[in-house]
Amino acid sequence: MSQTGPAAPSVAQLEQVKDAVRTLLHQPEYDDGSAGPVLVRLAWHSAGTYCAETKTGGSNGAGMRYEKEGGDPANAGLAHARAFLEPIKEKFSWITYADLWCLAAVVAIKEMGGPEIAWQGGRTDFTDDTKIPPRGRLPDAAQGSDHLRHIFYRMGFNDQEIVALSGAHNLGRCHSDRSGFEGKWVNNPTRFSNQYFKLLLAHDWKKKKLDNGLEQFVYVDEEIELEEGEKPEELMMLPTDMSLLSDPAFRTWVKRYAEDKDLFFDHFSKVFAKLLELGICRDASGNVTNAENVEDGYKSAPKKSDTAATQKDQNRGQVGHEAAPLKDKNETFQSRKNGAKL
Ligand code: HEM
Repeated sequence: MSQTGPAAPSVAQLEQVKDAVRTLLHQPEYDDGSAGPVLVRLAWHSAGTYCAETKTGGSNGAGMRYEKEGGDPANAGLAHARAFLEPIKEKFSWITYADLWCLAAVVAIKEMGGPEIAWQGGRTDFTDDTKIPPRGRLPDAAQGSDHLRHIFYRMGFNDQEIVALSGAHNLGRCHSDRSGFEGKWVNNPTRFSNQYFKLLLAHDWKKKKLDNGLEQFVYVDEEIELEEGEKPEELMMLPTDMSLLSDPAFRTWVKRYAEDKDLFFDHFSKVFAKLLELGICRDASGNVTNAENVEDGYKSAPKKSDTAATQKDQNRGQVGHEAAPLKDKNETFQSRKNGAKL
């Protein structure tokens, strides 16, 4: 039941999709008012399963549509991002989920004030879950610098690139019902900047044990201007974020990015483009030459049903019907957040 679209989307077609992504970023009911951060995380997790040695994983295939990858606890909460993109998939059914997830992040980063990121389409959607890599390839935030190197060297990144990529934690927040960690890294988590690096260096981060037993690092910014009655929200760092400070090679880059926003933007733009290309082979003209793409062309999976409770339009093992329950959850979260400010 898959549908074959054009060989690869044209520039004009992609412009339409980019416009549609820009329109959906504003989500007043959700988190800090933007779908941007969680879209960035979706793209990163779709690509971050790559293993350079075995050439498995990566951004081809949109494996998170399947329980095998979508149900990985490391991907908890990313169903929100996928559900945000469903109306776009409905309108532009020719685009593959694999391309849409990556392109949405590139648009979101730019719209949130970040750099332009070079991007090429052509990823295809897997038609079953057989090519999905094993779980456990994404980083564990409770660990330190050795773990980061183990995970990111496997993908083919170096120390400088690990630090530049981590700068994405300038965006969004941790959720107790997803990763178990709680809070945002910076005061304005929907604006892309080098604030994350500045805060890492500037503050005395204190260890805090959460009720669920996890440990994170926190700081309360007393100087921030607040609306009347608002309490300052604690900022946080993950143990892996703190390891960028304690490891001398990582720390050098933290300092350089804190001092030079343009350098960070330039390096982030390059490394994020590299991340999104993990697992994608191209010929000199940019056509994707992965076996599944050559065999089947640009094959976009049918849109997932977000209404009926039947699995009929889904492939085996596919996760579906995500949108409605998530909408309810977002509204509950927002009313709790508003209530807390009163
Ligand atoms: C260095 C290793 C990394 C670790 C251990 C890590 C871990 C985490 C954790 C635990 C969360 C909170 C998830 C939640 O509870 O909702 C998170 C959020 C986030 N991460 Fe990372 N991450 C890493 C690298 C990256 C990279 C490379 C990027 C992108 C380039 C990224 C982008 C994000 C974004 C944008 C969010 C916020 C999502 C939201 O607001 O829903 N992270 N990360």
